[in-house]
Amino acid sequence: MSSFTLFAPLQLIAWTQLNCTGDFGVTQFTDSVLARNISNAYISRSLQLNRSLTQQEQLDISVTSNFNSWYSNKDQLYYNSASCSNFWQTYYAVNGTTACYNTPPFTCHRLWNNPGLPMILSK
Ligand SMILES: *[C@@H]1O[C@H](CO)[C@@H](O)[C@H](O)[C@H]1NC(C)=O
Ligand SMILES: *[C@@H]1O[C@H](CO)[C@@H](O)[C@H](O)[C@H]1NC(C)=O
Ligand SMILES: *[C@@H]1O[C@H](CO)[C@@H](O)[C@H](O)[C@H]1NC(C)=O
Repeated sequence: MSSFTLFAPLQLIAWTQLNCTGDFGVTQFTDSVLARNISNAYISRSLQLNRSLTQQEQLDISVTSNFNSWYSNKDQLYYNSASCSNFWQTYYAVNGTTACYNTPPFTCHRLWNNPGLPMILSK
């Protein structure tokens, strides 16, 4: 599988409150946004995927270092986005399921194929 090809379509919903409640932003991952840092309009506190991560897929979440200015930087599809300054967490096939995950407040997410990971099939 190419590092730049999505295994299968994947939707991420990022919620403003814990336990996947509150307002939400939806990201449809496609090949064109694979491996790119993406933000929606919210500071998110939980997330849910519509399928488990599989093979070498890796989802990273990170947060801005400035909650006052990140908002002005809404198009995050370029290098070193201001919304993605501090790395928080990674999810892999072993722990990226369709469960709702509570997270530290995040403003940026990225899905990519990490060639360094073992080819684990999702549970
Ligand atoms: C997940 O969402 C994407 C985008 O809407 C969709 O194409 C895909 O079929 C969904 N997958 C599952 C397993 O529901
Ligand atoms: C995405 O954000 C991370 C920080 O979480 C950064 O290390 C990485 O360089 C960024 N990648 C791109 C393509 O902007
Ligand atoms: C998911 O599992 C990986 C590998 O064990 C681990 O490094 C990572 O911290 C876990 N992610 C979360 C959010 O617990």
